[in-house]
Formats: sequence, C-alpha cells, structure tokens
Amino acid sequence: MNSPLLEINSITKSYQIAGQDVVVLKQFSMTVGKGEMVSIMGPSGSGKSTLLFILGLFLSPTAGTYSFDNRDVLQLNRKEQAGFRRNEIGFVLQGADLLENSTVYENVEYPLIYAQSKRSGRQKRIHEVLDQVKLSHRIHHSSNQLSGGERQRVAIARALVNHPSVILADEPTGQLDRENSLQVMNYFRAIAEQTETSLVIVTHDQQVAEFCDQIIIIDRG
Ligand SMILES: Nc1ncnc2c1ncn2[C@@H]1O[C@H](COP(=O)(O)OP(=O)(O)O)[C@@H](O)[C@H]1O
Ligand SMILES: [Mg+2]
Repeated sequence: MNSPLLEINSITKSYQIAGQDVVVLKQFSMTVGKGEMVSIMGPSGSGKSTLLFILGLFLSPTAGTYSFDNRDVLQLNRKEQAGFRRNEIGFVLQGADLLENSTVYENVEYPLIYAQSKRSGRQKRIHEVLDQVKLSHRIHHSSNQLSGGERQRVAIARALVNHPSVILADEPTGQLDRENSLQVMNYFRAIAEQTETSLVIVTHDQQVAEFCDQIIIIDRG
C-alpha cells in the first residue's frame, strides 16, 4: 500500500437513545493509503454514515484514535476542525445535494468562497474541476436542468475544488443506473490516480465495491 493518509484505531461510537447508550461502532479500525480507494459495505444501520461523519470530524468518537497525515486530529479545537474539513475533506452525498436554482458554476464556487479563495483564482479552478468530470459544457446551466448522473458529477467537482486529501462519499451511486455508476467510479479512479486523492466510498453495490482497492465490511459495528 501507499503511505497511509489516515488511520483510525479501535474507534467506538455510542449514541444516547432514550437515555440508553447504544453502541454503533465497536473497536473499529481502518487504514487508508494516499490515493487509495476504499469501499465500506454493510447492512443498513451498521454505522457506515456514522463512520464517515467521524472521518470528516463532524462527529467525535466515544473512544479510539484518529490520525491523519500523522496528526492526531481528535485533539484539534473547533476552529482547527473547521479548517481541517475545509482543507482536507471533500464530501459527496447520495442525492447530490446541490443548491437549486443556481448554476453549475455557482454550486462549485461555493466551497471556494467559503475557503476565502480569491475571485481571480476561483474561475480557473472551477473550469479545471468541471473539465475533470466532463461538465464544462453545462457550466451555466441551472442545477435543476441536469440529469441524475450530471448532478452527481457536479457534486464530485464541488468536493474536489479545494484540493482535498480525501473524498468521503456516502452512497454516491445510490440513485444512478449502472452506466452512470460506472462513470462516477471511473472519475473517482482518475482523481485518485492523478492527484493521489484518497476515497472512502460507502456503497451497497457489489460492483462499485469491487472497483475499489480495499473493501471493508461493517456488520453491527
Ligand atoms: N444522531 C444520532 N442519534 C442517535 N442514533 C443515531 C444517530 N445517528 C445514527 N444513529 C443510529 O446509529 C445506527 C447507525 O446509523 P448509520 O451510521 O446512519 O448507519 P448506516 O449508514 O450504516 O445505515 C442506527 O441504528 C441509527 O439509528
Ligand atoms: Mg447511511
């Protein structure tokens, strides 16, 4: 494997539900190399989304360690966590949660504005990432006018735009047909190879999982 980008060890996560501790992840460990594609499979409710939220520092684990580029990221304060998410993480969700009534350009621009990147540099970068997912011809279309596959590609471009070290994707092909799913996976592969971006992809789809370098199965934590 390539040198590791992120490593979690013996992660446990429990939620308080109706006053009771419910353990979702139990002593869960995984390592993701730079430029590696990892798929996470498991039944509904097994903690896959919880795991992605922990990797993205949207949730803290109850116990365990998390090192990212040899940094103990669980020790970061809130402000540092926000910076970490902005600089290192790209998120792709199932429904391609785009800003409606906004153009493809505006959708991809938004994380750049949030990261306070200068207007002059933004335009160039937006064209670059839309080129990578072959959507340059749709740049001024409204997100409402796109097909499901195109929407998902916009979501990928948006996740890529700040040069993240890792993309966390929760069922990115869940609403796509076979052809569009394969296309999305091919873009992911190209991204992993060209920029050494790592990918962690939650999926129910065996073919999508087999496209990855490593398959991790979570079953009741
Ligand atoms: N914020 C929360 N509070 C309480 N329980 C939660 C919360 N989020 C998820 N859970 C519970 O944790 C379990 C795992 O959820 P999740 O990580 O979404 O699983 P998956 O993505 O594999 O379907 C489920 O039983 C779910 O009900
Ligand atoms: Mg889920």
